[in-house]
Amino acid sequence: MLEGKTIVLGVSGGIAAYRALELTSMLKKRGAAVKVIMTKSAAEFVSPLSFRTLSQNPVALDMFAETDCWEVEHISLAKAADVFAIVPATANVIGKIANGIADDMLSTVAMATRAPMVIAPAMNTGMFENEAVQKNIETLMSRGAEIVMPASGRLACGDVGRGRLENLDVILDAVSGALRKKDMTGIRVLVTAGATREAIDPVRYITNHSTGKMGYALAQAARHRGAEVTLVSGMTNLTPPYGVKTVDVVSALDMYHTSLKHAENSDIIISAAAVADFRPIEVAENKIKKDGRTSIEIELTENPDIISEIRKTYPEKFVAGFCMETENLIENARDKMEKKGLDLIAANSLCEEGAGFGTDTNRVTVFTNEGEPVLAGGSKYEVADVILDICTANLKK
Ligand code: C5P
Repeated sequence: MLEGKTIVLGVSGGIAAYRALELTSMLKKRGAAVKVIMTKSAAEFVSPLSFRTLSQNPVALDMFAETDCWEVEHISLAKAADVFAIVPATANVIGKIANGIADDMLSTVAMATRAPMVIAPAMNTGMFENEAVQKNIETLMSRGAEIVMPASGRLACGDVGRGRLENLDVILDAVSGALRKKDMTGIRVLVTAGATREAIDPVRYITNHSTGKMGYALAQAARHRGAEVTLVSGMTNLTPPYGVKTVDVVSALDMYHTSLKHAENSDIIISAAAVADFRPIEVAENKIKKDGRTSIEIELTENPDIISEIRKTYPEKFVAGFCMETENLIENARDKMEKKGLDLIAANSLCEEGAGFGTDTNRVTVFTNEGEPVLAGGSKYEVADVILDICTANLKK
């Protein structure tokens, strides 16, 4: 996504400035060109030479420096940006940009650029919670800037509270999202993802191999495209996508109740979770002992089919599901679509290379109630985009 894009990275003067060095390298590794602008105080914390070396570009610092280039630097930087990111953003820089002050290179480029803005504040909790700072953040948000809110934790000054620069992965996610067209603005999407866990006793459970990657990619892509996204997540090792409301659940029954509740306020519901079809009838109160036995029986009972229940409860919503088949892909997929009353089904063939559990890529055939099936392959994010295109197009009909 970042390949060939230009990210103008404004670095302002807080202790977190050193973390922008790693962000520069992360962006470079993903094929982006990075042009760094530092404030004078940022240059007190980290040397411009470090940014110059990592970005392989000159660092802009001084509005009035003599350069070899004839271009007006602040305007050429403003125009070059596909995304203008400020990491970390101090209270001072936020205040200047929110109020139209342009008195150094960073704030002047911010004024001149038409690129989408991503701002990651980092400062002491007292400063962050100050009414003026909060007002300025609100102002920037109302103008469409993406604010990656700081995390809580121990701050450099020794205080504990909100103000730590958010994880770089999260900031990178927001920068990637800023590159996308917001063609799903106003659409509410509910995604279920990951594996459910069905308890046997307090220490054991039944689960499956789902990693949640496909569902997380759907949630991430929908959010990048401007949708309001809720992710009901079973077990995964993944970091929730930036800007997505994530609700963690454990069992199929939890997922059922949570999804049904959130479906009410959604336009599109996509069920990518690998839900256990059965659960133990009884969950042992204490750890089951071997007690000399060589075998035991655990009786299972059926779980509700979440997506079918959502369809029955909300006939007007666009409801999509997945299926995983090892044979007769087309017939089985169409059959499942009809039985569950789905508007779309994305069928994985487990026999295909690069498809299915745990991989970063997928190949699916997407069936709807109209027209020919569509083949989608590539990264799970790319496959998610194709599915979302179809959901969105059908929603508008
Ligand atoms: O019937 P099967 O499990 O193959 O169907 C898969 C689709 O149904 C997936 O979209 C899955 O998320 C959904 N599903 C569900 N509730 C279940 C089982 C599956 O929503 N209990």
